[in-house]
Amino acid sequence: MSIKTIVLASNNAGKINEIKLLLSPFGVEIKSLKDLGLGDPIENGKDFIENSLIKAEYAFEKTGLPSLADDSGFCIDSLNNFPGLFSSRFGSACRKLQNDLLGQNIDIKTSFYGEDSPCFKIINNMIGEDKKAHFTTCISFVYKNDDEIKKEVFEGIVKGDFIYPPRGKEGFGYDPCFMPNGYDKTFAEMGMEAKNKISHRSIALAKFVEYFKKIK
Ligand code: IMP
Repeated sequence: MSIKTIVLASNNAGKINEIKLLLSPFGVEIKSLKDLGLGDPIENGKDFIENSLIKAEYAFEKTGLPSLADDSGFCIDSLNNFPGLFSSRFGSACRKLQNDLLGQNIDIKTSFYGEDSPCFKIINNMIGEDKKAHFTTCISFVYKNDDEIKKEVFEGIVKGDFIYPPRGKEGFGYDPCFMPNGYDKTFAEMGMEAKNKISHRSIALAKFVEYFKKIK
């Protein structure tokens, strides 16, 4: 096959740049939905796999081009993987509650939850001693090979512990609340470079790149 362009079903600049960099050795051009004048699909899947597939299938149906999408989240094992699919919405709600209750002026679009985040304090009390947590990413790739439409899913999981109070100011989202197994720093304390070597997203992306090398 000769794949020259991949549509990335995301408008997140960080993700677009990360994937552009990874695929640059293969001479592949990455286009976002926005580049193509397309809106976002409704993510109403029941898990990360379904949501990533919904996005990649949408981009493929609209463009006919090989399409890639990811979906990720933070999961607390003893809470049946909550917040999971709701990670983004739950994070915004926590920051809003923190502003409302504590009068702290936290930008609800930024990452840091604050040392005394009420939501995370409640979660910490609820889960007791079992702090096991993980991040998951699913990457879906939909493309046409001859006349066959292929759909591949690549998963990356990084296991560790929920940390309360949150620690560190780098990264984004739940990074201050998560310490990967075998480390003594949270994702937000270790810095992006170290995090990116072991993260759920890099594991899934590495699997995708291995696959891509074989089919391109
Ligand atoms: P997305 O599917 O990659 O946009 O991730 C959904 C939500 O999961 C984000 O808004 C974050 O709250 C959370 N999340 C996903 N990956 C990470 C990560 O690497 N660090 C911290 N939070 C993350």
